[in-house]
Amino acid sequence: MFTRHRRLRTTQGIRDLVKETVLNPNDFIYPIFVVEGENIKREIEALPEVYHYSLDNLEGVIKDVVEAKIKGVLLFGVPDEKDGIASSAFDENGIVQKAIRKIRELAPDLFIITDVCMCQYTDHGHCGVIENGIINNDETLEYLQKIALSHAKAGADMVAPSDMMDGRVMAIREILDENGFENVSILAYSAKYASAFYGPFREAAGSSPQFGDRKTYQMDPGNIRQAMREIEDDIIEGADIIMVKPALSYLDVIRWARDKFDHPIVAYNVSGEYSMVKAAGKMGLIDEKQIALEILTSIKRAGADIIITYFALDACKWLKDM
Ligand code: PBG
Repeated sequence: MFTRHRRLRTTQGIRDLVKETVLNPNDFIYPIFVVEGENIKREIEALPEVYHYSLDNLEGVIKDVVEAKIKGVLLFGVPDEKDGIASSAFDENGIVQKAIRKIRELAPDLFIITDVCMCQYTDHGHCGVIENGIINNDETLEYLQKIALSHAKAGADMVAPSDMMDGRVMAIREILDENGFENVSILAYSAKYASAFYGPFREAAGSSPQFGDRKTYQMDPGNIRQAMREIEDDIIEGADIIMVKPALSYLDVIRWARDKFDHPIVAYNVSGEYSMVKAAGKMGLIDEKQIALEILTSIKRAGADIIITYFALDACKWLKDM
């Protein structure tokens, strides 16, 4: 006696009926890069078909997002001015703050998430303030508070600290609550690894560290128990949603987190994961669409509730045609 497993694979109909993991637009958050200037829609070389937008050019992409039925965007600012303390990150007329107001005007119901970090805005490119060559954790918290508060004041629905300083979730929750923003939620980049997969993003955001690396704050790729401790503390400190980043090489981390915690989990399908597929697709080595959908399905199957991905717009189109 043996079981005929293939019985449930005989037609597309039955295959669709027994499908355990189904992607849909609610699964995705689309990252958007905003820049100062006018009339800019400039393709990012390291991230094919992803663009830098000036504010006056956001309308098209926001319309695409809404029409695709994507519910959330994640904003990254690429500022003109940098200094030692990331002043342009908490300026009420900074690029992200202006973009939030603009998007709110264009699409009142779109859920706006902002990346809270210092690296794009500091001349040294690190995610915190530096003292004697060392990234000072506790002093950085004050700046992260200023950044998060300025995003909330501009109208962000959710702030997403990506710096990996200890205590930032608690610090941000505190400042938001003190200022009447108790409904602004926190998406914590909890298990964020020191990954080479961020390469294309750093080119897009101009955020490469000018000395050293990020290994004193981002996690070692070999560690998974440590990731559970990071997540647990972010939850205790008040994170509403937790994140694992990157996604593809960290599916086990997503699964462990899913089994251990009940909070919604976001996985970040990062720039390097995207650009590898794009490049290989362009070379004709793989089928971009099939590979992208398989990767996104595997991230969801591993346990992610939401996926931040540069493929979001394409994926929605592909899924509609299926
Ligand atoms: C900022 C930040 C990074 C990413 C998101 N927020 C880069 C980094 O930590 O160096 C990476 C996103 C991607 O690669 O798509 N700290």
